[in-house]
Amino acid sequence: MVASNGIGRRGFFGRATQALGALIGGGLGIPALIYLLKAPKSVSPGGWVDAMDLNLLKLRSPEEVTFRRLRKDGWKLITEKSTAWVVKLSDSEVVAYSPQCTHLGCAYRWEEDKGEFICPCHTTNFSIDGNVMGGPAPRPLDRFPVKTQGTRLLIGTIDSAQPTKTKMGA
Ligand code: FES
Repeated sequence: MVASNGIGRRGFFGRATQALGALIGGGLGIPALIYLLKAPKSVSPGGWVDAMDLNLLKLRSPEEVTFRRLRKDGWKLITEKSTAWVVKLSDSEVVAYSPQCTHLGCAYRWEEDKGEFICPCHTTNFSIDGNVMGGPAPRPLDRFPVKTQGTRLLIGTIDSAQPTKTKMGA
């Protein structure tokens, strides 16, 4: 049988199948192409993180603070938990230390009665201002860059070239 425009039934179904295939292919392929070719969203991983309320800090009493940071892993953005030891060294100065010992990266802790940080792995002692007092650690504790926003303490990343202590209220 021949359709009114001269295309046979077989030809009509063949074209209809091709058109349907093109429609489905376009429906799936175009969004996939846009996803692959478009630049990822401009979320800036590794920026400043709101870590804590400064009013919770007591003078020269270190606090271990937990916060979440955005990290880029290929095309994925992941939030990961981080910690820092935050110390109000004076009424006008706050520092945030990386939680890893500068010897081999163990987690250290604050010993209240001794008034120093102690790494249990190879017994390095750090003073409250992060300096090595004894043990194998080759350098003082690494500091996160910090800044304040009202009463909030913001913590940056270790590798960003920012000030590593802040004047409170600045
Ligand atoms: S890792 Fe801390 S003293 Fe060795």
